[in-house]
Amino acid sequence: MSREVTAVKRFAGDEITHFPSVVQRSIAEKVILSRHRLRACAKPLQPSAGHAVPTRRVLSGRRADLVERPAALPARPYFSSGPCAKPPGWRLDLLDTASLGRSHRGAAGKPRLAEAIERTHALLQLPADYRLGIVPASDTGAMEMAMWSLLGTRPVTMLAWESFGAGWVTDAVKQLGLDAEVRTADYGEISDLGGIAPDRDLVFTWNGTTSGVRVPDAKWISSDRTGLSICDATSAAFAQPIDWSKIDVGTFSWQKALGGEAAHGMIVLSPRAIERLQSTPAPRPLPKIFRLTKSGKLIDGVFRGETINTPSMLAVEDWLVALDWAEGIGGLDALIARADANAAALDLWVQSSNWIDHLVSDAAIRSNTSVCLQFVDRSDPVANAARQKALVKLLEQEGAAFDIGAYRDAPPGLRIWCGATVDTADIQALGPWLDWGWEETGK
Ligand SMILES: Cc1ncc(COP(=O)(O)O)c(C=O)c1O
Repeated sequence: MSREVTAVKRFAGDEITHFPSVVQRSIAEKVILSRHRLRACAKPLQPSAGHAVPTRRVLSGRRADLVERPAALPARPYFSSGPCAKPPGWRLDLLDTASLGRSHRGAAGKPRLAEAIERTHALLQLPADYRLGIVPASDTGAMEMAMWSLLGTRPVTMLAWESFGAGWVTDAVKQLGLDAEVRTADYGEISDLGGIAPDRDLVFTWNGTTSGVRVPDAKWISSDRTGLSICDATSAAFAQPIDWSKIDVGTFSWQKALGGEAAHGMIVLSPRAIERLQSTPAPRPLPKIFRLTKSGKLIDGVFRGETINTPSMLAVEDWLVALDWAEGIGGLDALIARADANAAALDLWVQSSNWIDHLVSDAAIRSNTSVCLQFVDRSDPVANAARQKALVKLLEQEGAAFDIGAYRDAPPGLRIWCGATVDTADIQALGPWLDWGWEETGK
């Protein structure tokens, strides 16, 4: 007999005090049932291309005035947008510890770093002549290393549609003092991608984690460009198809779509980026931590596992476990399919709800990883911010969802990570909890 059924039986016999508080609340609320009237649906349903208008999920007559406390919790309530959920089945004891406490430059460590690079290169299906390296300071380290090392010899176009992209604009304009054309967009929208001059350098974020806006593809980047395209791909890599032929520098970190550990960044360099690094170095001194060349030559070792400074071998071993899982389920296509399925499951719930909507109304630019939602009623942003806080706290206390609040600068609402390490069943189990939490926090 399950713990819950046992608890129900004992509750009937007035023995509720013997049970943990969460179970007590659960059972009591199941018996009493919160009575909250559902408001009329506010949003029209949108059909997908080539499909009929979907039917909204309608509660049965018996339940129409109730939002029942859901019976089942998501098995893994980890929906944070970074660090993201560990891969399904992950356990600490899966990590090979032989390289720990040993030199990262020795026989135990260096081959593991090299393996991490080689297997990541293969998993991402990078072109054979692209290089991949492990660098310090996570995705920020990789992006700033690229910007400081490469930008300044020609004008740059900066695109930003949320906080992290805006941070790269600050770097370019205020710190580096570059000749920059800046194209921004509000939360939920995307910058104008038309007419990007191919002779300028370009900096953009493939998937804006704080707004849930992603580029639809890379067709807008010229194949004949003479400038370099530098792309922060940290919440897109391993979840969205990236046309690497259009990217000269790509960056990401380990704690996002494969659920690795934070600390290190990875940097992808195209042959053109390497050529620029060697032939036209940036017009500024660089700290050691950013240096990718020595005496005008690429430091080849960085791309073979000889990191610039000491890495965490624990994080490296954890990354290798994440790669085991990703390769085991079928590689990149399977990862993308899982993220798509999660985002579709969440969308189904959004379509059925009357109180929440996508922040990104255009599905063509909507993320399948950091899915951002906003409240339908936006008449009182202060009240909405308070409701967001209460809802997030309640669901965390219930063990139903962790870390699902909208980013602090984004419109109040929710942000739910749908990357591949999240299971679709958990997204499906989350919806009823969100509905319940919304009603509870509105009392
Ligand atoms: C799009 C984007 N860029 C950069 C960062 C910063 O990443 P890190 O903490 O790995 O440096 C994040 C973190 O969430 C992000 O989402």
